[in-house]
Amino acid sequence: MVKVLFVCLGNICRSPLAEGIFNQFLDTKNLNKNIICDSAGTSDYHAGELPHNDSMRVASENGITLTHRSRPFVKEDFERFGYIIGMDSSNISNIKKIGMESFIPSKLLLMRAFDNQKSNRDVDDPWGYSFRKFEECYKILHECCDNFLNYLVKEHN
Ligand code: 4NP
Repeated sequence: MVKVLFVCLGNICRSPLAEGIFNQFLDTKNLNKNIICDSAGTSDYHAGELPHNDSMRVASENGITLTHRSRPFVKEDFERFGYIIGMDSSNISNIKKIGMESFIPSKLLLMRAFDNQKSNRDVDDPWGYSFRKFEECYKILHECCDNFLNYLVKEHN
């Protein structure tokens, strides 16, 4: 079983959307028995909350229902998950500060290592911006999730 954790700051905008998109791919490709995912935030600012309305909206417009409740990233996540995918470089540095110990460094990756350009850029935080930003975020995450899943399938055949 391959286990993936998507991480952002608040765990209400980007990472729960990534989780929803990735799960949709897993369902479509019948891979949900081999690969699972979850999401978390490096802060506890929104612990227990459903995703942001605009993440829920863009997900729903694309046939995805988000039910995740925000939770903070915890040290145990390094043991629970095989891959940890940060939405931006500050997420990655916050995760590293928690103390990675035995976690394989090459399995802590930026989401945009999997965009079509392998750009390693940030998935910009749409929090506080208009719905348009959430739509842009969705597009990027959709492309990255597609490529990331293909990568996992190749790695783990
Ligand atoms: P996210 O967006 O990290 O994509 O969930 C944010 C949501 C809330 C806050 C920051 C980013 N906040 O500071 O409350």
